[in-house]
Amino acid sequence: MTTESHGNRLDPHLARYAQRTHSMTASEIRSLFAVASRPEVVSLAGGMPNIAALSMDVVSRSVTEMLAKRGQVALQYGSGNGDPRLREQICDIVALQGITTHPDDVVVTVGSQMALDLVTRIFCDPGDVIVAEAPSYVGALGVFRAYQVGVEHVAMDEHGLEPTALRERLETLAAQGRTPKFVYTIPTFHNPAGLSQPQQRRAEILQICQSAGVLVIEDDPYGLLGFEGSIPEAIRAHDSDGVIYLGSFSKTFAAGLRVGWAVAPHGVREKLTLAAEAAVLCPPAYSQLTISTYLETQPWMDQVKTFREVYRERRDAALESLAQFMPAGTTWTRPDGGFYVWVTLPDGIDATSMLPRAVTARVAYVPGTAFYIDGQGRQNLRISYCFPTPDAIREGVRRLGGVLEEELELLNTFGTTAGPAGSAPTDQAAAPGPQTL
Ligand SMILES: Cc1ncc(COP(=O)(O)O)c(C=O)c1O
Repeated sequence: MTTESHGNRLDPHLARYAQRTHSMTASEIRSLFAVASRPEVVSLAGGMPNIAALSMDVVSRSVTEMLAKRGQVALQYGSGNGDPRLREQICDIVALQGITTHPDDVVVTVGSQMALDLVTRIFCDPGDVIVAEAPSYVGALGVFRAYQVGVEHVAMDEHGLEPTALRERLETLAAQGRTPKFVYTIPTFHNPAGLSQPQQRRAEILQICQSAGVLVIEDDPYGLLGFEGSIPEAIRAHDSDGVIYLGSFSKTFAAGLRVGWAVAPHGVREKLTLAAEAAVLCPPAYSQLTISTYLETQPWMDQVKTFREVYRERRDAALESLAQFMPAGTTWTRPDGGFYVWVTLPDGIDATSMLPRAVTARVAYVPGTAFYIDGQGRQNLRISYCFPTPDAIREGVRRLGGVLEEELELLNTFGTTAGPAGSAPTDQAAAPGPQTL
């Protein structure tokens, strides 16, 4: 094999890569995982579901029964849009969120991450534009970058995506002849902001998108994980033509099985299936049938309730310790479900440049910049409370508080922290406490 002269010794293929790989960079989360997984570090970084709350006996019984009854099917190729029985069961699950749909309109994917990839693949050419909340899910931003799609961020307030800002942005884009291919939103227990859109807000957002003729992508892996037990109605419940709904078993059962889905309008589902077949031929039958058997034979909603309890206890530990240990000027959101708290640091503190010092103090988080396409978010960080024990969360937040105190001391002494984006502190630091965005 001959080698191109444009490579280097580390990667002789450098000159061959497609343009689209130039925007594929390791996410801040990925490089963090290596450090954050050291046992002495309390990781408030990764959003890993708390699988310890799932009984392995129950999973094992489901697998054994599945293999005994449907082993031949489970170990074979399946259909590109997913197992028919599982698609029926998914219809029952989304009905809990007010969605009426037919199994034919469900496309099973390898996690909802793949659904995000497929949706972007079928709608977006390089240079196209989409609209997403700011901040937004890091994995979705990675997909948009990979397809060379421009992301227009629209601000959130304490009720999520802000309707006036959305309307104005759509109008501005239309005036420039740049109609976005879709609006991407996470209305329930947002990752990373921890906020939910009230019903009225959902209706407003839908109405704005409908009148602008823009498709909505509703990403909803956390919808059943509300701490008060009520299940919010999906945006898709009110429009089956203009909304593609994405769901997942990763947070309500097991992320390792890698099964998610899209509920799509008729025409779109055909394209999604063709794209899925091109990517993976079919989603894994083994995982799908395991889930299908589990849903059929186990009280799966009780397991969802157990997860809610586990996450609620951890949310409480996070909020209590934030109130105890955060210095004045720090604010944070108060999630009613899901995995995440979004923290805004005092003026002049830079979460990205502070991270190495935090890891040295044995606590990790994800800096806010990971959740924006354009470098915003330096004053923010995301805390995930889903995985560590409540005691570990308290200890992690205590350590974070210590790091922040040191940063503030540096700032007060030198007018800057060691980071590049330091700026002078404001005189009137607010009391620490729950924030609106
Ligand atoms: C908002 C959001 N969407 C999609 C995903 C992808 O989940 P999965 O591919 O495991 O279904 C995640 C995972 O954390 C997420 O937070």
